[in-house]
Amino acid sequence: MNRVGLIGWPVSHSISPALHNAAFAALGMQDWQYDLQPVPPDVLKGSLKTLKEEGGYVGVNVTVPHKETVMPFVKPDALAQAIGAVNTIDFRDDTATNTDVYGFMDDLQANGIDPNGMNVVLIGAGGAARAALYGLASTTAKIKVVNRTLDKAVAMIHGLGVSASAAKWEAVKPDEVQLIVNCTVVGMVPKQDECAWNEAIAFPKGAIVYDMVYRPAKTRLMDMAEANGGRAVGGLGMLVRQGAFAFKKWTGVMPPLDVMFAAAREALGQKR
Ligand code: ATR
Repeated sequence: MNRVGLIGWPVSHSISPALHNAAFAALGMQDWQYDLQPVPPDVLKGSLKTLKEEGGYVGVNVTVPHKETVMPFVKPDALAQAIGAVNTIDFRDDTATNTDVYGFMDDLQANGIDPNGMNVVLIGAGGAARAALYGLASTTAKIKVVNRTLDKAVAMIHGLGVSASAAKWEAVKPDEVQLIVNCTVVGMVPKQDECAWNEAIAFPKGAIVYDMVYRPAKTRLMDMAEANGGRAVGGLGMLVRQGAFAFKKWTGVMPPLDVMFAAAREALGQKR
């Protein structure tokens, strides 16, 4: 059996097994299996060794809180090094990468969103925000980062060495904003009544919202975009696509995205 899985602490909420196992089944890959491996922070190094040497694991996805701390134990590629976080490890050569950037950029493209030249407000300064900022900074988008803790936005921009500015909400000019990317957990179940946009600031007219939150399928932020004549895309596509790129790294095969999307929606109890 070729095993793959997700390490994190906790991991029980993850729908990744549903995505990957549905793709294995669709491709007739009965000798592959994806499962959840809860790994407390203090035993990370030993757990990697055990999974690799005794567990029969080909590789793993990595989630909170290990994305950064796992770096010294693997060989991160240039992308993972630039972001300072890993989400996919291949135990066969201990290489590691970060498929969040590809997942995000690929999903923008799949939704017909070309950030080149756009005025973008990126909300957040955590791991997800770093991946999005890195991807967007490879385009000609003009990026303002707003975050509850401004210092973290400044540090993120400097750390990545990209061209973007950290801004207070008061400095956001709604008339200019064309794309809003939410990289925070604000609006996610169980806090679905909250909105990542600061409601003291007028909501931009006709802007596109990309909300990395996928639970619920439609967040308040997404509702606001549509109510103001704009478009909204939720984060399920990024989740599926980052998973698909990890699948490709382990198996050499690109999984059927429609199968992964259907499995994800079923696992979340969401309709199309
Ligand atoms: P992830 O790896 O998923 O990005 P993270 O590193 O914990 O998670 O980052 C969470 C992001 O959501 C941060 O930008 C955080 O803001 P701070 O940097 O100020 O902590 C943001 N965030 C979380 N809860 C928030 C809230 N209630 N209001 C505003 N921002 C919030």
